[in-house]
Amino acid sequence: MFETLKPVGMDPILGLMAAFRADSREQKVDLGVGVYQDDRGRTPVMTSVKEAEAKLMELELTKSYQGIAGDPDYNARMLQLLFGADHSILSSGRVKTIQAPGGSGALRVGAEVIQRATPNAKLWVGVPTWPNHIPLLGSAGFEIKEYPYYNLATDEINSDAMMETLRQVPAGDMVLLHGCCHNPTGADLSHEQWDQIADLALERGFIPFIDTAYQGLGNGLNEDAYGMRMMADRLPELVIASSCSKNFGLYRERTGSITFIAENSQQVDIVASQAMSIARQIYSMPPAHGALLVSLILGDDQLRANWQAELEEVRLRIKSMRSLLTSSIQGNSAGVDFSHIEQQNGMFSFLGISSAQLERLREEFGIYIVSSTRVNLAGINSSNIGYISESMNTVLK
Ligand code: LMR
Repeated sequence: MFETLKPVGMDPILGLMAAFRADSREQKVDLGVGVYQDDRGRTPVMTSVKEAEAKLMELELTKSYQGIAGDPDYNARMLQLLFGADHSILSSGRVKTIQAPGGSGALRVGAEVIQRATPNAKLWVGVPTWPNHIPLLGSAGFEIKEYPYYNLATDEINSDAMMETLRQVPAGDMVLLHGCCHNPTGADLSHEQWDQIADLALERGFIPFIDTAYQGLGNGLNEDAYGMRMMADRLPELVIASSCSKNFGLYRERTGSITFIAENSQQVDIVASQAMSIARQIYSMPPAHGALLVSLILGDDQLRANWQAELEEVRLRIKSMRSLLTSSIQGNSAGVDFSHIEQQNGMFSFLGISSAQLERLREEFGIYIVSSTRVNLAGINSSNIGYISESMNTVLK
């Protein structure tokens, strides 16, 4: 039977990660996959995570099954992290979070629940979006529609065109939004734009589906949550997929959660039961380790303070790499303007160079960048910035 299958090309981001690893050049630079690197180019386990792991070694008494919704303590703590401990939604009875295998698993469970609730709902995604959103959510059954998000010519959010399209979205459709640190553009919605989208959602009756994978890496843990907290206040229904891959550095532990807000507690209980039946049909239960670490960290004042300090270091390092890259390549002989990079948020920005220039960077200089020209700013450090800017200046000539 397998002779009927055709090979599938590598994923554009994970394929680039594999190509980078296979490259034997010493001076190679990884600005591809969205993984944090420190100033020495390493992706270390956070100290707070290491401490939680030591604690877990002592505390963990069993590896028995945990249950379809994962760790209840983790779920409660994620709710507080997403919305803030004092948000009225927490005591409303209208919200439920269940643990999921990473942000991708969360997106998929969320999508399947929505499909069961409204099989004809379409999903509106901004252009551009994380490339895997489309196969991941499309294969759950959604017809994908697009709204303009980013203007490559001005390096800004295409606000008028975005709002004009969102004004046409029919009631019951879903609109995918990035909670913060937009991937791939780094251009985040302003508070005013979030508010306007909430107005439109109320007016039109569409439902936001928020993907938040970088809370704490943009402007801070609370600042990065503005959109979802405001929408949780104002909208009757909301779906939020979240990930601990980046802010806890738990990439390979596949630690995420899916949160549903419904009109009342009866409805949200039904939604959660549907999510659990979907999880059972796909993977049965989420992996435990990462979630146990997160709940240990968030439940212990000292560990939590240490984690927040480490996360702040990550955030500030990325910000300073934005400034460093901008100042290093801004005076290029081709006169290309890169000033947007310094103003944007999170791990990514577009370079906006040609594909021939991008290919030269990879082939000649071993600098790996995703084909959309998305750079991971966290791949820049004090040792490679000189090499990156020299190489950039060469290909821009
Ligand atoms: C990225 O966008 O690089 C990360 O979210 C990793 C991934 O799975 O694509």
